[in-house]
Amino acid sequence: MTIKPPFPWNGAKTRILKDLMPFIEQWDGKGKWIEPFLGTGIVSRQIAETYPDSQQILGDLNPWLIAAHQYWLNGTVEPPTLTDVSPEKVRLYRNLQDNEFNSVSERDQALRFLVCLYSAWGNRWQTNEDGTFATPINTARNGGDPRFLLRRLEESYGTGWGKHSYQHGNWLLTAQQATKGDFVYLDSPYPETAGYGTTKWDLEDWSLMYDWVKTVAIPNEVFVLVSNPGTMHLLWDYLMKESIKIDMPSQGRSTRPRVEYIGFWKP
Ligand SMILES: C[S@@+](CC[C@H](N)C(=O)[O-])C[C@H]1O[C@@H](n2cnc3c(N)ncnc32)[C@H](O)[C@@H]1O
Repeated sequence: MTIKPPFPWNGAKTRILKDLMPFIEQWDGKGKWIEPFLGTGIVSRQIAETYPDSQQILGDLNPWLIAAHQYWLNGTVEPPTLTDVSPEKVRLYRNLQDNEFNSVSERDQALRFLVCLYSAWGNRWQTNEDGTFATPINTARNGGDPRFLLRRLEESYGTGWGKHSYQHGNWLLTAQQATKGDFVYLDSPYPETAGYGTTKWDLEDWSLMYDWVKTVAIPNEVFVLVSNPGTMHLLWDYLMKESIKIDMPSQGRSTRPRVEYIGFWKP
């Protein structure tokens, strides 16, 4: 059965989950599952099914995304009402700045993420320098009817898969919690998405990640799985024990066909 991601997201691993599992299943599930680039969490959800007893540590640089997982998907805040999606509320959520994150309620942190994303053209998360939301509103969809947004919120509410440990921040903060026997899945941003919003992801970040795998994860006997653009095999093949390349057909007019590299290291 195909698992559906709780929200649309560039780079969600929905279609290659089946290619990741043969590597992941070489793990005994006795350590922690550590996912520093959580996105939709679709891989984490599969892990919760395959390894129901394993502890999960989940992180992402986007604090609003983490709040959506933690409070909305897990249903720890009040369910949605029509007032949450009024034009005034949508405007308010879009204008929130990143430095206001801690001054709004947990419910608003989570709703801000989903309302902005569900109402955006192409469901694309794009923010300005200060964190205000930049993707235009998709008014064509149902004429911008708030009831459409409400339905989307209702569909995702309470669909979480367990109250794991969530953190927002740079990937290394999450990854460095790994110890012997744990599994780290590294699905860093792609050049096409330029790191989402104002987030950067360039050669410096790739090399820091490579260096961490080489000098910390492998010597400490941590399982490592990376999924990266195909060209990155030139780098990873020196370290990884197993790998595959997958041809990804284009997903509509806006994306070109590309090759995905998956590399795996186990103790
Ligand atoms: C390719 S997506 C992960 C997709 C995810 N595996 C899924 O299936 O939905 C990359 C994620 O990394 C996050 N991100 C970007 N830069 C980051 C950083 N420096 N540290 C941690 N997360 C980061 C983005 O917010 C995005 O959710």
